Amino acid sequence: MKKLCLLMCLWVTSAADRTFWLVESGQHSNNKESQITPTLIGGFPADPHEFPFHISLQTYKNGQWSHRCGGSIISVDKVLTAAHCVHASKANDFLVIAGDHNLQKEDKTEQVVTVKSITIHPQFSLQKSMDFDYAILHLLSPLSLNENVTAVSLPSSEFEPIGDCVTMGWGMISNDATAPLPDALYKVILPIVPRPICKIMFQDYIVQITDQMVCAGDDGRGSCLGDSGGALVCNEVIAGIVSWSTDPCAQAEYPSVYANVAAVRSWIDEQ
Ligand SMILES: *[C@@H]1O[C@H](CO)[C@@H](O)[C@H](O)[C@H]1NC(C)=O
Repeated sequence: MKKLCLLMCLWVTSAADRTFWLVESGQHSNNKESQITPTLIGGFPADPHEFPFHISLQTYKNGQWSHRCGGSIISVDKVLTAAHCVHASKANDFLVIAGDHNLQKEDKTEQVVTVKSITIHPQFSLQKSMDFDYAILHLLSPLSLNENVTAVSLPSSEFEPIGDCVTMGWGMISNDATAPLPDALYKVILPIVPRPICKIMFQDYIVQITDQMVCAGDDGRGSCLGDSGGALVCNEVIAGIVSWSTDPCAQAEYPSVYANVAAVRSWIDEQ
C-alpha cells in the first residue's frame, strides 16, 4: 500500500508524539521498493535568514505553539501557504513567525503576528485531487520588512520553471519517522521535472498531476512532512508551494509536488 502524504505535520511536544495527516491511501502499480535516503530530504542547513520570506505557521497544541507548515511573505500583510495547512482551521488558530531560523532558539530577528482571515482558493479540492492547494493568510498587523523579513517575488502568469530550483523547510530530514526534526531551517536544490513527464510518472497513482501543480525532485531529494506551505523558488520567484508527496518522500520514480503559483497569479493579485 502506498500512502499519499500532505506535507503537513502536526508537531507536538516531542518528535515521538509527532503525527501527520494521511488523507488517503491506495495502491499503485509500481511495487519497486523505494530507496530511503537520509536527509527536507537530501538537503543542508540554510544560512540564517537566507530565505527571509519564509515563515513558520504555528498552531497551539498540548500547551505550546508548534510548527505546522511553512509559508511565504508576499507583502507586508499577506502570506502565501498551502490550503491543506489551514482548510479545517480558523484564523485565530494560527501564529505566523517571520524572521526565524532556529525554531527552538530566540534569534532576536523573529516577528510574531496573528492571522486576521484566511482565503482558500475556491477550487481547492482536498479529498479528490489535491488540486488548487493555495491559501492566503491576511495578517492582523503588518510585518516590518527588513533584511531578515522580506516579501518573495511572484512569477508572471506565463512562468514555467525549468532547471534547478530551491526549496526550504523545517520538515522531516529523513524518511525515518523517529529521527529528530531539525531546529534550523533546511534547504535542498531540486531539478524541475517537466509537467508532461511528471503526468506520466504519476499516471497510475491515486492522485493525478494537474496544470496547477509543479513537480521537482529526484532520488533522495525532495520535500517531506512538515515542509508543506513553503516555497519552491526558481529564478528568484516563487514557482511553487510545497503540497504533497508519496510516502516515503523523495523516491526516484515520484518527484515532490508543489502548487503552481503562476497558474493563479491573477487570483493572488485580487486578494
Ligand atoms: C538580521 O540577521 C542578522 C543575523 O542574525 C543580524 O545580525 C541582523 O542584526 C539582523 N537584522 C535585523 C534588522 O534584524
